[in-house]
Amino acid sequence: MEEMYVEWSRQARSALEKPVPVRFNRGIRSVIVAGMGGSGIVGDVLSTLSSNYSSLPVITVKNHILPGFASREDLLLVVSYSGNTVETLRVFDSALERNIPMVAVSSGGLLKTRAYEHGIPHIQLPEGLAPRASLPSMLYGVLKLLYENNLLNIPFKIVEESVDFLEEKTGEAMAEAGLIAEWVHRSKGLLVISTHSPLESLGLRGKNEFNENAKIPVKVDVAPEWMHNDIVGYEEPFFKDFTVLEVVDPGDRVGVMLVDFMRTIYGRVTKSFHRLVLEGGSLLDKILYGSMVFGLSSCKLARMRGIDPLKTASIQEYKKAAG
Ligand code: PA5
Repeated sequence: MEEMYVEWSRQARSALEKPVPVRFNRGIRSVIVAGMGGSGIVGDVLSTLSSNYSSLPVITVKNHILPGFASREDLLLVVSYSGNTVETLRVFDSALERNIPMVAVSSGGLLKTRAYEHGIPHIQLPEGLAPRASLPSMLYGVLKLLYENNLLNIPFKIVEESVDFLEEKTGEAMAEAGLIAEWVHRSKGLLVISTHSPLESLGLRGKNEFNENAKIPVKVDVAPEWMHNDIVGYEEPFFKDFTVLEVVDPGDRVGVMLVDFMRTIYGRVTKSFHRLVLEGGSLLDKILYGSMVFGLSSCKLARMRGIDPLKTASIQEYKKAAG
């Protein structure tokens, strides 16, 4: 599965080369992204980018309910790698009933079939990948769609440069991933990803990758919100076995300071720390670099544990039960 991550720059490049399936001739109030798990993360990352670059508001829906406020002034992006995820299909059906403008994104499945049946524009993803490993195809496909419809304030140069950056940094990301995997494997405590705003989506991405690829539970702690609740949990520690992976943007002095402070508190319960310093010039570079390191390190950890990173038996069991 590691090779899927190593190919990320190629995925991104080919997503940017594809023509967009639709052009809107009117303004859009907000973008709503519906998707679960490895597909839903597209909405989280887009939301981080839109806040940072003051683009359109992006709302992420990670359930089966199309928000009541969604109207014909919005754009709904329905993202499901397989195209068969029940929650995402429900949102699609509700949007059809309510006449909400939308674009579907999938490698196939019922979502693609229904999109074609109802004349809904569809972005085709490459087949044969794990949903979570196809992040660049989904993200760059959507970024291009938004850009070509004048809905993105991010200079397109930043988007294009991030692809070259990804290519350049793949070797470095692999080396960093090896260190992290070995360290987590040795440490054994509950993995805590300790980071700072605006890296919430990256922290979540890290959790999901270690959950799904390495099959371990993970906690995500984000400063400064952490300072207003979690911090108290370390006053009289009840659980004592933690492995803290710090993720910092070196260009964010306050963020680094906050993560340093968190370390002084975790220090009461663990001595096991590793710091991932994000590489890159733009926020997009940094999120992608971190995501690639998480993808690769969680796969490597799975191998060290003698586990197949690709298989997600419990998710499949749930999907079967959910119908
Ligand atoms: O990465 C994964 O395999 C999962 O998180 C899936 O993305 C999630 O179950 C949703 O499936 P899909 O992306 O096919 O809609």
